[in-house]
Amino acid sequence: MAFAVKETLSNLAGKLPLGGNLPKEEEVAELRQKYEQAGQAQVFSFFEELKPAEKTQLFHQLSNFEPNRVNELVDKALNPPPSSDLKAAALEPLPEHATASILDSDAEDLKRWYDAGLASIADNKVAVVLMAGGQGTRLGSSAPKGCFDIGLPSKKSLFQIQAERIAKLQSLAQHTLGKEKVTIPWYVMTSGPTRQPTQDFFEQHNYFGLEKENVIIFEQGVLPCISNEGKILMESKSKAAVAPDGNGGIYQALINSGARTDMGNRGIEHIHAYCVDNCLVKVADPTFIGFAASKNVDIATKVVRKRSATESVGLIVLKNGKPDVVEYSEIDKETAEAKDAKQPDILKFRAANIVNHYYSFKFLESIETWAANLPHHVARKKIPYVDPQTGETVKPERPNGIKLEQFVFDVFPLIPLEKFASIEVKREEEFSPLKNARGTGEDDPDTSKRDIMQQGERWIKAAGGIVTSETADTPGVEVSPAISYGGEGLGFLKGRTIKAPAVIESDAAGA
Ligand code: UD1
Repeated sequence: MAFAVKETLSNLAGKLPLGGNLPKEEEVAELRQKYEQAGQAQVFSFFEELKPAEKTQLFHQLSNFEPNRVNELVDKALNPPPSSDLKAAALEPLPEHATASILDSDAEDLKRWYDAGLASIADNKVAVVLMAGGQGTRLGSSAPKGCFDIGLPSKKSLFQIQAERIAKLQSLAQHTLGKEKVTIPWYVMTSGPTRQPTQDFFEQHNYFGLEKENVIIFEQGVLPCISNEGKILMESKSKAAVAPDGNGGIYQALINSGARTDMGNRGIEHIHAYCVDNCLVKVADPTFIGFAASKNVDIATKVVRKRSATESVGLIVLKNGKPDVVEYSEIDKETAEAKDAKQPDILKFRAANIVNHYYSFKFLESIETWAANLPHHVARKKIPYVDPQTGETVKPERPNGIKLEQFVFDVFPLIPLEKFASIEVKREEEFSPLKNARGTGEDDPDTSKRDIMQQGERWIKAAGGIVTSETADTPGVEVSPAISYGGEGLGFLKGRTIKAPAVIESDAAGA
């Protein structure tokens, strides 16, 4: 545990103003010895030639890692025990009693869940946690993904769309339940690379109309980047190369940042956590909250049906009798392509993980008892580094090292199956992730935009509106979350004709 606390402190160390107090000689000697004994002496290769401010910076950064613990993590990650061999593991789809589906649930159940979830929101018992610490390398943009404009007529960013859904839900709960004020606090997890730009973006946009004190931006931890030979790499002569510790860093970060304490102080009981890249995400979805709360589970998760055997999504499964996720990078072809014995047209493993999780606050209170046991996964990367012999910066052409990452779902197998539930939702209503650069044709900005526009068009038609278009392939209609969270409240469009593409921003506009 102490190690993880140090990890997060290391972020602070990286931000210390250059200068500050130069460490004493004996302090440096002690730290150097620790690294030498762990076989990591190379991090001090250039210490003598650094300026005082750089020495201070490096000293603080290195003080916040335990080199022996880093070695241990690397060793474990590179040599996982045989029991984690997927081929050896018994994989099965989740049993029926642990799953439900929006697609075939009783209308009464759906209404009961929605009403219960909305009532919890109205009682200020629901919070939202956004995981936005990833660097979006596949998208090819250096800005945080949440700032991305997917090309909607309104030019709204992913952050804005999500903020407006929160605001709409607050007002729906307030008016439906007759409350004076409803707040859904939004905890936004960032990382070293995404924190400042995220904070600046929220400031520039005035928190998209939400109250600043209810948008809590916090930072996850980092871990050192390691060479293929197990050595900590240096980004410069005065700085170790580090990377965010994966979206599983969320648990430790909730503690270290004070976010969990804040939830406790606010009386939060139910938490919805999700990923920044899904433009269709139903933030704080009342149906999901009500479903999970009615089952009295610690964790619940939403799934959609996997598009094809090769789609880059993790799968919710039962692994060795425990709920788990098998990542797309880990599954073998045979398992990915296996067909359902009863319905040979569909995949056996089809419950695609869309990273929409429910946690009970009670469960999050137990983080300390298990967080240190979550495994680290290895991502092989090209990591620029300073050669400890020559002092030259090397930009490798092939992966030369590893980043260690924790996965948010690695907590699933730690809980008993009866404390876990999964619900299937409609992909076209809830999942359209932004993963790839424009032009890829799959999970890119154009598919994100298309899926929002088509959803809007479906909602308008369902409300009795008429959508026309000059092309056969209608470009759809953007419906602002400010007027509808999930298709409700569009009765004012009944009988009216809307020429697509269009954007409906208020009860009066667009028609
Ligand atoms: C993730 C899921 C995968 C799922 C898919 C659906 C994980 C480990 N994998 O895969 O099972 O099917 O989404 O879209 O969750 N993030 C951080 N900090 C980090 C790294 C990532 O906050 O250090 C955040 C990202 O900002 C993003 C989310 O985690 O919001 C998912 O990260 P990403 O790398 O895009 O995951 P995928 O590989 O797409």
